Amino acid sequence: MNTISPWKADFPALARAVRGQPLAFLDTGASAQKPQVVLDTMAEVLGGAYANIHRGLYYNSQLTTAAYEDARGTVARFVNADPHGTIFVRNATEAINLVAATWGRQNLTAKSTVLLTELEHHANIVPWQLLQEQIGFTIIVAPVNDAGEVTPEAIDKLLSEHDVSICCITQKSNVLGTRTQLSQIIPALKNAGAMVLVDGAQAVVHGPVNLKTLGADFYVFSGHKLYGPTGVGVLCAAPELLNSLPPYMGGGDMIETVSFSKTTYARSPARFEAGTPAIAEAIGLAAACDYLSAIGWEKIVAHEHALAEQLDSALAGIKGLQRYGSAGLGNGIASFNLTGCQASDVATILDQHGVAVRSGHHCAMPLHARLGTAASVRASLGLYNDSTDIAQLVEGLHKAQKLLS
Ligand code: ALA
Repeated sequence: MNTISPWKADFPALARAVRGQPLAFLDTGASAQKPQVVLDTMAEVLGGAYANIHRGLYYNSQLTTAAYEDARGTVARFVNADPHGTIFVRNATEAINLVAATWGRQNLTAKSTVLLTELEHHANIVPWQLLQEQIGFTIIVAPVNDAGEVTPEAIDKLLSEHDVSICCITQKSNVLGTRTQLSQIIPALKNAGAMVLVDGAQAVVHGPVNLKTLGADFYVFSGHKLYGPTGVGVLCAAPELLNSLPPYMGGGDMIETVSFSKTTYARSPARFEAGTPAIAEAIGLAAACDYLSAIGWEKIVAHEHALAEQLDSALAGIKGLQRYGSAGLGNGIASFNLTGCQASDVATILDQHGVAVRSGHHCAMPLHARLGTAASVRASLGLYNDSTDIAQLVEGLHKAQKLLS
């Protein structure tokens, strides 16, 4: 089957040849390409009525403030969140650090237990370890089974053995593509009285997210993986919860009044947006959300699913290729190794063939240890990929096998 992407032409970077060949960009899991509308929107902000926001009474400052706050509304609607509980941060990593430094510092003690999973990205491990060094709580880890899943049963077992204060869990693995069954896992965590932080960085890019029904306390994602700019990410939580937390960073815009004897703080979202934020980037992210909404998830999901199946069967047809995590099949993220070949060597040969993939531990060293390898090659799909990208990958892998084994 030859699947073409009707949206590829919207992404100017994909029209540029690489090493004299068409670019097969298969690294959306690391950072997505940007559609022209995002580039145009940012250029318009920076080269149009640009001014700092929330500070000026003059016309351009009012216009840019309105555009920034409209962007918050658009991004909140995109995941069905409350705009008052939608905070612009730098990326998902910063959002998790924010939760650890505020909710974590306020609520965790040496007697607490934090539940992580073996699927997590370092961004959802290290902030908790940094806090653990200061507070001394216990971290427990839900295991990944041989299919590459963290099952609801594995979470239930840990909940029956421990009094968990917070569970920090990914919605979709950046290595295996496996999804966690949050519709079962979150109610179990809430029944056990635990708070829940969901890392949605990989999931929000590939299907609809409804935070009203998901039931997580904190939800985080990055803009740059969602076809938006770098330098902007999002933390969503209930405004009442956010208003009960201490600020994360101090500075302009996050205060009510300041004096040397006492300073009081603004309510969410300003409470957590100290200093001049990434104005053009937040507005650019809203343009990316509008772009995806205009296409519609139904079309995107159908396209990506058809392509993921092609990728899975193409990789299954390569002798000597070891694929990790069967539960992730069909989800558009494939990590694998070629027998006897270093992942970095394979990625280098693929690059010479115009194919961009990630190689290494993908910021998930504990998961790679569980998989029994230090590194893997990862191909990840976006809505702009098509069958020619997969064919180029397969040709490149055959070439790598010839050269390396
Ligand atoms: N978290 C990103 C990845 O998986 C950077 O590549």
